[in-house]
Amino acid sequence: MAETSEPIVGIDLGTTYSVLARLDESGRPVSIPNIEGEMVTPSVLFFEDNDVIVGKEAVKAMGTEYLNVAECAKRDLGQREFHKEINGQHYPPEVLQAWILRKLRNDSMRQLGEYRKVVITVPAYFDEVRRKATQDAGYIAGFEVMDIINEPTAAAVAYGFGEGYLTGKESAERKKIIVYDLGGGTFDVTVMEVGGRDFVTLATDGDMQLGGRDWDQRMVDYCAEEYIRKYGLDPREDPNVEGRLWRECEDAKRTLSARSKASVAFEFGGNAIRVEVTRDEFHAMTRDLLDRTAFTTRQTLQAAGLEWGDIDRILLVGGSSRMPAVSEMLKELSGMEPDRSISPDDAVAHGAALHAGLLMDLNQGKAPAFTIRNVNSHSLGVVGVDPKTKRPRTAILIPRNTPIPAQARRIFKTQKKAQQSILIQIVEGESSSPEDCTEIGKCSVRDLPADLAAQTPVNILFQYSENGRLTVDVRVQGADRQLRHKIVRDNSLSQKELDRWRSQLKSSS
Ligand SMILES: Nc1ncnc2c1ncn2[C@@H]1O[C@H](COP(=O)(O)OP(=O)(O)OP(=O)(O)O)[C@@H](O)[C@H]1O
Ligand SMILES: [Mg+2]
Repeated sequence: MAETSEPIVGIDLGTTYSVLARLDESGRPVSIPNIEGEMVTPSVLFFEDNDVIVGKEAVKAMGTEYLNVAECAKRDLGQREFHKEINGQHYPPEVLQAWILRKLRNDSMRQLGEYRKVVITVPAYFDEVRRKATQDAGYIAGFEVMDIINEPTAAAVAYGFGEGYLTGKESAERKKIIVYDLGGGTFDVTVMEVGGRDFVTLATDGDMQLGGRDWDQRMVDYCAEEYIRKYGLDPREDPNVEGRLWRECEDAKRTLSARSKASVAFEFGGNAIRVEVTRDEFHAMTRDLLDRTAFTTRQTLQAAGLEWGDIDRILLVGGSSRMPAVSEMLKELSGMEPDRSISPDDAVAHGAALHAGLLMDLNQGKAPAFTIRNVNSHSLGVVGVDPKTKRPRTAILIPRNTPIPAQARRIFKTQKKAQQSILIQIVEGESSSPEDCTEIGKCSVRDLPADLAAQTPVNILFQYSENGRLTVDVRVQGADRQLRHKIVRDNSLSQKELDRWRSQLKSSS
């Protein structure tokens, strides 16, 4: 009976590994294996002739055809082009992400049949532009993205499900938890209050360029330097040796989570070398990275107005939280033993599937199984002019950590009579100088009524929705229409480009 209805699917689209999960007939989230039989798919692409190969086989190609391998595209979302040129092409990062989604989709359809609707996860610290790029990747892959959900929130929902909160077995008292999510490419820390079926985010912070990949980088550099010391040449000059080093170093890093030493062996320029690294050495060479997460964790706690004594639980999420140094650091900070009860690999995808189930229920008019409340991770502002210095300055409309949905109204006045348009530059970030913020886009209100008097107020309504996406509505005083306004974006693909990529990906698989 359940087979006739559409499967309920959530995807954790990770920087280094991705996971697809569904809800089974009893509403329990389960991960779906890919065609190689694994639950976790490396987010790595290999371009071979006209084919794009995603996953384990692409990882293998790192050692032999590294120039045609693309990794960590998630880190470039929000940019027009992926940083590495492949076969003379600069792909938009959302297209690379779409290929990964396409692989997950095709593989899962063998088991689930045709479906289109999904929920995709994003780091809580992702800004608006990167959120849109993620939704666009889903569109290019042929999905209908019902929603995006923050990764730490998804993990907390999966945790709540595991504890029986969602099924109402336990009328749990409210607990304050910290979700420490250290993945492959991004770091998120979120303070939440979880009670019964409510998941409320109190504060969130993070770093979009901090994850396991940076720990790998330290090991790659260490090995390369050992080689340079011995032979005077840099092995990274050969792309395939570099590709192999990345692969081997990631492996050695995992070994160091279980053992006190590991070694990396490679060959270059006719010389074979074997570099030994102890866990202590590895800790020492990555200490500053860990310290950055500690610093952000403390700050987030403070932003939530809490102290360690108020926290009931620290949830560890993300593959990199398996590094022993992480729990040691958190234990030292908080005096508490972190909770490892949820799977660092699956929890995020499972939470996404639970959220997808919730949306399907809502669509069918059913009561929701749980509620999620979020905050915005970056302040929303517009570029104004400092009256004193006459220089551009950010005017913040919605400060960070405001519960969302949130809205802010700004009244702009026309300068001269019969003014045709008003230009508004929208930015996200904490800096008072706009160039240090992320530009979301420009909003030009055109076609103002022809004979508008000078100084006519134009009402602009900015609205962050629950998922951190922005909409802009415009109302001109005197005119009674309120218009949803289009944001012109320099940093994302046009609808035409999205459609072109969508049909290209469809025809290639
Ligand atoms: N046992 C381990 N010890 C150390 N690191 C590990 C271990 N297992 C996995 N990792 C690391 O965890 C990272 C992958 O974690 P995860 O799948 O949570 O990240 P992701 O979802 O790809 O990235 P993100 O969430 O940042 O976008 C990789 O950097 C991987 O090397
Ligand atoms: Mg992740």
